[in-house]
Amino acid sequence: MASSKDLPPLDVPFFPNVFVKNQFCTKPDRPPATTDLTGKVAIITGANTGLGFEAAKQMLALKLSHLIIAVRNNAKGEDAAAKLRTKFPKAIIEVMLLDMTRYDSIQDFVRRVENEVHRLDIVILNAGLIKMKYGTVASTGHEEILQVNYLSTVFLAILLLPILKARSPAGTPGRLTIINAALALTAPLPTINGHKSLLAALDDPKAFANYTDKQYNTSKVLMQMFAYKLIDYVSADDVIVNLVCPGFVKGTGLSRDVNILIKPLMAAFAAAAARNVADGASTYLDAALVKGKESHGSFIMSWKIAPYNSFLYTPEGRDAADKLWRETMDELSFAGVSGILESMKKL
Ligand SMILES: NC(=O)c1ccc[n+]([C@@H]2O[C@H](COP(=O)([O-])OP(=O)(O)OC[C@H]3O[C@@H](n4cnc5c(N)ncnc54)[C@H](OP(=O)(O)O)[C@@H]3O)[C@@H](O)[C@H]2O)c1
Repeated sequence: MASSKDLPPLDVPFFPNVFVKNQFCTKPDRPPATTDLTGKVAIITGANTGLGFEAAKQMLALKLSHLIIAVRNNAKGEDAAAKLRTKFPKAIIEVMLLDMTRYDSIQDFVRRVENEVHRLDIVILNAGLIKMKYGTVASTGHEEILQVNYLSTVFLAILLLPILKARSPAGTPGRLTIINAALALTAPLPTINGHKSLLAALDDPKAFANYTDKQYNTSKVLMQMFAYKLIDYVSADDVIVNLVCPGFVKGTGLSRDVNILIKPLMAAFAAAAARNVADGASTYLDAALVKGKESHGSFIMSWKIAPYNSFLYTPEGRDAADKLWRETMDELSFAGVSGILESMKKL
């Protein structure tokens, strides 16, 4: 199977073609019944609720030995862990604090993983959000969706890569699956638009107000642009990195911030078109357990490797990905991320 980079770009519009195909014309591809995660250790961020919690349940049902739920609220994490411990008493289920709006919290979390987790097989970076109103994060000044869904997710991914490489069993690559969204395929090519950088343009409240989903869709396409470049630094023999869309899924908290007047409309649309949480979360297991090296750096949609946003197949899109990469490295330079990525390169 070809990777996203090697596939041709989509030649049909997202709405209605891709959306209808995803939501109405695909069947869940569950991991083989023989899948056995005995002995394995996994981290899932934002696993206190929604798709992350459901993926945790499905992996524990496959006998995962040790699960770390990384959450921003300890009480919510412990509540989720208690439910999982009742159902899966043999597994070790730990809660660790991780606030994706703060780089120092991400660093504290990674230090804890380094000190306390001696084997690490699978990481699923699931924590993410949609906000309807513009707001910035106090510690960085960045707009919150850009911060959580892109900058902090990239930061955490980079810090965890060497740990996944070193602490997955010899001969078996570590697994890093980052939760993306098919709506990324609808995001416009990010441009500087009179600002000093792409990130500054994405922090602009006026750009945010353009239309409701724009910043969310953009945050997810930025991750596709990052993955496009990341595989130059990470060998699939060390860590298999892929992105996956769970589909449009009902029954999670993602639209909790949506205007109360729009909520009934959204609920009716979701009732008609959305996947249930179990089917949505099964995409996480497919990406992290079933898909292999062929999926390295790729975007997976409806259980299949799919093309990235079409602009990544154009010179302008690739230039923007280069620029975003340089800006991201600068943003995270305080933690030496370029050096970490260089160290991942195979000799
Ligand atoms: N649902 C869909 O239709 C859909 C479609 C495509 C992609 N996705 C993606 O799937 C992932 C999970 O979404 P979901 O639908 O399961 O939504 P959800 O129920 O709202 O779960 C999101 C999780 O992310 C956590 N989170 C948000 N901000 C955080 C922060 N600053 N620090 C740490 N954790 C944070 C939340 O923690 P709290 O509970 O503490 O807020 C929660 O655990 C997201 O990345 C989303 O973009 C969802």
